Amino acid sequence: MRIGVPKETASGERRVALVPEVAARLVAAGFEVVVERAAGETAAFSDELYAGAGARLVDAAEAWSADAVVKVQKPSVEETARLREGAVLIAFLQPLTDRDTTERLAQRGVVGFAMESIPRITRAQPMDALSSQSTVAGYKAVLIAADRLPRFFPMLMTAAGTVAPAKVLVLGAGVAGLQAIATAHRLGAVVSGFDVRPVVKEQVESLGATFLELGIRGEETAGGYARELSPEEQQRQQAELEERIPDFDAVITTALVPGRPAPRLIPASAVRSMRHGSVIVDLAAEAGGNCELTEPGREAVVEGVTLVGLLNLPSTMPAHASQLYARNVLALLQHLAPDGELRLDFGDEITAGACVTRREEVPA
Ligand code: NAI
Repeated sequence: MRIGVPKETASGERRVALVPEVAARLVAAGFEVVVERAAGETAAFSDELYAGAGARLVDAAEAWSADAVVKVQKPSVEETARLREGAVLIAFLQPLTDRDTTERLAQRGVVGFAMESIPRITRAQPMDALSSQSTVAGYKAVLIAADRLPRFFPMLMTAAGTVAPAKVLVLGAGVAGLQAIATAHRLGAVVSGFDVRPVVKEQVESLGATFLELGIRGEETAGGYARELSPEEQQRQQAELEERIPDFDAVITTALVPGRPAPRLIPASAVRSMRHGSVIVDLAAEAGGNCELTEPGREAVVEGVTLVGLLNLPSTMPAHASQLYARNVLALLQHLAPDGELRLDFGDEITAGACVTRREEVPA
C-alpha cells in the first residue's frame, strides 16, 4: 500500500503530516511512502531526511494519487479532484463545521477519516491528534502571554528589590488548558484555572494551580466534553468573571464545545476592567473566541489590554507539532491496515467513528 504525503497548501500552515522518523517506521512495516518534494521544509524536515528514511520524493500529482493520502489540513477543491476514487484520506476534515468538504469527498468516492472524529477512548489515545495539537497550543499560548506581558512571570528577589509574580488565569481546563496551567506554573506564575466540568478541579490543583470557584457547574457529556451552558448560566458566568478578572495579569482562554461556536466568557466590560498591560490569549479564536473583543487571526490592544486571537498556534511550533501528529497518524494507519494492507472493519468503534465518508466497496 502506497502512502502519499502532499505539501500543505493552506495559508500559514507549516506542519507536515508525516515526519521522517514515522516514514521510516512505515517503510519498515512494509508500506511504500511517497513524499512531495519540500513537504517537510517549513517544519524543519529536509527532503534528505525523508530520503534517508526510505521514502521516495515525488511531485504533487504522485503524492496525491497514492492509495492513502495523509494531510494535516482538509484538502482544497482542486486537491480533492486529485485524489483517486477509492483512496483513503486522513486529515483534520472538520466534519462538524464543513459539510462541503465532506460532500465533495463522498462524491469523489474517497474514504475520508477525520482525525478529530476519532473516539476519545483509552484504546484510541495514541491516535488522538486533538490532544497532541492542543498540548502544543496550550504551551505556546503561555509563551505568547509571557512575551506580551510587560512584567516577569516568576517572583524575583533581586538587589533592586522583590518582584511579585504574575497572576495567570486559565479558562477551560481541557487538554490545552491543563498544558497552559502546567507551563505557566513552571515559569513561576501564580496560576488559577476554571472549567465548567466539575471533575477538572482536582486536575487543576494537581498541577499546582488554584481552582477558581465561580459557582457554575456544567455537565460532562458521554464523550467527556462540556455541554453548552444555558443562556442564564452563561450570563452568570460572565458576571462572575467580570468581577474576578481584574486580579489577573494574563488570561488564557481555551473553552470549547464541539461543533458549536466558542462560549463567550469574557464580555467587553470585563476586558475594560483589567489593568493596562494585561494580556488575553484567546485559544478559542478559531471558533469565534471566548472573549467578546477577540478578532480571530489578529492581535490588538484595547484600552491598554493586549488581546491575542492568533490562529493555528500548533503551526508555529511545526517540528514537534508535526512529530506528534505523525505519530497519531501512524497509530491510525496501523489500526486501519494492520498488516500493511487496508482492512477496514466498520464494526470497530474507532474505524466507524473516524470515517466520515465511505464507498460501498472499499479496496480489500
Ligand atoms: P475542548 O477543547 O472541547 O474544550 C476545552 C475545555 O473547555 C473543556 O475542558 C471544556 O469543559 C471547557 N469548557 C467548555 N465550556 C466552558 C465554559 N463555558 N467555561 C469554562 N470552560 C468551558 O476539550 P478537550 O481539551 O478536547 O478535552 C475534552 C475532554 O476529553 C476532557 O474531558 C478530556 O479529559 C477528555 N479527553 C479524553 C481522552 C481519552 O480518554 N482518550 C483524550 C483527551 C481528552
